[in-house]
Amino acid sequence: MSERYIVILAAGQGTRMHSKSYKVLHPVCGKAMVDHVLTQAEQVHAQEIVTVVGCGAEQVEELLQERTQYALQEKQLGTAHAVLQAADLLEAKAGTTLVISGDTPLFTAETIEKLFTYHEQHQAQATVLTAQNEDPFGYGRIIRDENQQVQKIVEQKDASVAEQAVTEINTGVYCFDNQKLFHYLHQVKNDNAQGEYYLPDVIELMQQNQDRVLAYQMADFSESLGVNDRVALAQATKIMQVRINQSHLRAGVTLVAPEQTFIDVDVQIGPDTTIEAGVVLKGQTTIGSDCYITSGSRLVDATVGDQVRIDSSTIEEAEMQAGSNVGPHSHLRPQALIGPQVHIGNFCEVKNATIGARTRLGHLSYVGDATLGSDINVGCGVVFVNYDGVKKYHTHVGNQAFIGSNANLIAPVEIADHAFIAAGSTITADLPERAMGIARARQVNKPDYWDRLPLSQDESWQ
Ligand code: UD1
Ligand code: CA
Repeated sequence: MSERYIVILAAGQGTRMHSKSYKVLHPVCGKAMVDHVLTQAEQVHAQEIVTVVGCGAEQVEELLQERTQYALQEKQLGTAHAVLQAADLLEAKAGTTLVISGDTPLFTAETIEKLFTYHEQHQAQATVLTAQNEDPFGYGRIIRDENQQVQKIVEQKDASVAEQAVTEINTGVYCFDNQKLFHYLHQVKNDNAQGEYYLPDVIELMQQNQDRVLAYQMADFSESLGVNDRVALAQATKIMQVRINQSHLRAGVTLVAPEQTFIDVDVQIGPDTTIEAGVVLKGQTTIGSDCYITSGSRLVDATVGDQVRIDSSTIEEAEMQAGSNVGPHSHLRPQALIGPQVHIGNFCEVKNATIGARTRLGHLSYVGDATLGSDINVGCGVVFVNYDGVKKYHTHVGNQAFIGSNANLIAPVEIADHAFIAAGSTITADLPERAMGIARARQVNKPDYWDRLPLSQDESWQ
């Protein structure tokens, strides 16, 4: 096997996206398109990967970091010109170079590997990856001669009516003999409808010079979908989602309605977990085994242990440990750490707080900037008052404390183990172990109050 190199083209603006963001940075199932391409390319074990950047170069490099080398294309003069920018890094080397676009997020490492192998086994100088597409508009067309040999590739805007009828398209992925590639790139001209230097023109130049040019047709067009606008972005997302969901189904996850379940590509889920329709799992979320997640739940960068139940709730950058449960309609915000067997019921919010094992928070509570021990009962409507308009303060609650309903804990305050807080109290001072704190006005009853009301004189009210 000769040396292998990969060039990823990612310098274009993506005008047809009508976006402030650069095209290759648009995410598909939680990962930027160019990151999808690089992730697959990395699995092929090429000696070098070079990404050509231009529009949004800084952002692309920030995203992909040291995983690839970079070549800068200052002006976007076309795909041939883009590849030429990698000359300093690659031109002198012997081997095979695969070129792929940063806007084709669905290609798999398996397909890339197959193209390399086909090209190497057939000792071609160029092999273009093609596909059949009944609706080929926008793609370059593969023009073959009477012997079915690839002659050239014609872009949509340059194609004659007859050429436009061709349904075999250029997927934008090619293998080239590296030195031949750079040799011919210098000869590509821009005398075409778009005034650009087209990479596919290298194919025609090689063909004319009796170099061995082959086409490798893939069975399934959908993998080669190129994303030029948001219609294609939505199509790519749909295809990727089917792929992701099928891999979870095969690994033992029950998705009650897979077509209505939205799972990002890096999410991990353990077997025997059940996920209802309308659940959204984003970012670096991991979920254990034997969990149950009901419709309307949204998890972003969440860490969820085994046997957790999440009922129509939102969890962002928070952790739920084994056997805990939440919801319906609660919100776990960043830095919420929910310990094992903890019960968080409905309409609760937890932020930057640790909640110890088996503590219960049944209804309508806010816990912010706090550390709660284990086996605590937090009554209905308890508020951890953490903010004075300037700073945030922390509250500690010890093990087996009991916090009555509708209490306010004004931080900073320390509630020791086994302490009690009477319902309706506004707690501003520390509470020692085993003590009870009551902080509310005593009730005063006014006898015969009714009789003093003017209304009571009215016959109709008697
Ligand atoms: C390209 C091919 C077309 C093929 C299609 C497959 C050319 C001329 N046409 O068309 O035959 O069917 O892909 O999806 O190659 N880019 C740069 N610098 C540039 C121009 C483009 O880096 O100067 C990058 C873009 O960021 C993009 C990729 O190259 O990732 C392809 O460019 P794009 O404009 O999308 O080409 P298509 O019109 O889709
Ligand atoms: Ca494209």
